Amino acid sequence: MKKIIATIFASLSLAAVAAGGGDYKPNDPANTRLEDKASLQRGATLYMNYCMGCHGLEFSRYKRMAQDLNIQEDVLAENLIFDGSKPGDLMKTAMPNKSAEIWFGAAPPDLSLIARYRGNKWLYNYLRAFYKDETRPYGVNNTVFPDVGMPHVLEPLQGMQYLSEEGELALITEGALTPEEYDVAIRDLVNFLDYVGEPAKVKRHSLGVYVLLFILVFFVLAYFLKKEYWKDIH
Ligand code: HEC
Repeated sequence: MKKIIATIFASLSLAAVAAGGGDYKPNDPANTRLEDKASLQRGATLYMNYCMGCHGLEFSRYKRMAQDLNIQEDVLAENLIFDGSKPGDLMKTAMPNKSAEIWFGAAPPDLSLIARYRGNKWLYNYLRAFYKDETRPYGVNNTVFPDVGMPHVLEPLQGMQYLSEEGELALITEGALTPEEYDVAIRDLVNFLDYVGEPAKVKRHSLGVYVLLFILVFFVLAYFLKKEYWKDIH
């Protein structure tokens, strides 16, 4: 009996860790909103410019993404496709897996399902947690994913951080964005990855509003119908 109770408590605390997002630092809420199309569009642009070279999104097609995010086809072709793919193509990376393993020690994984696997909060903090570490092959480490093989590809935007002995991250060189702007950019990027992980979610959210409106209208109709039926019965 004691054993069973102990197991229940152990699994409860595990669930709490999973729900709370672990004890990594930083540990800020992602606050992403799938309803925010402008944010999703900015996130897609960031992704195509800074991530697609190494990480594919092999379950998505350019065309479907453009439709879901209200991106015009000419904008898609001119600003978001860099490798000559056609709109109907799957979003594969040009990075060959074998060379990537040699260059980075680990092949950059496809990120189609990363938001479902890691969660938005983890991603939001991971992409803000690179810091200078000369002992690493690419000169950076990450507080959320220790000894990660990925270079700090967003350094031009964020700048470079260092990790103090107290475990705090602070900027040592500035990037093109202020820290606040960088957080917004990462929120957009994570929002986009959330969409990619489950494209139907965008539709489902807007469908939900219509369903609720329908129920509301139906309720009003039903109410008056009831009044009509019962008006002669006393
Ligand atoms: C130069 C190649 C390169 C680029 C560009 C790049 N990454 Fe990576 N990324 C990697 C490699 C290599 C790994 C694997 C690291 C490991 O397992 O140690 C990785 C790992 C990751 C992971 C962790 C995956 C896991 O195992 O949970 C995430 C998330 C990620 N990258 C997101 C991004 C995002 C978002 C961008 C664009 C801002 C990006 N990456 C750009 C090379 C790259």
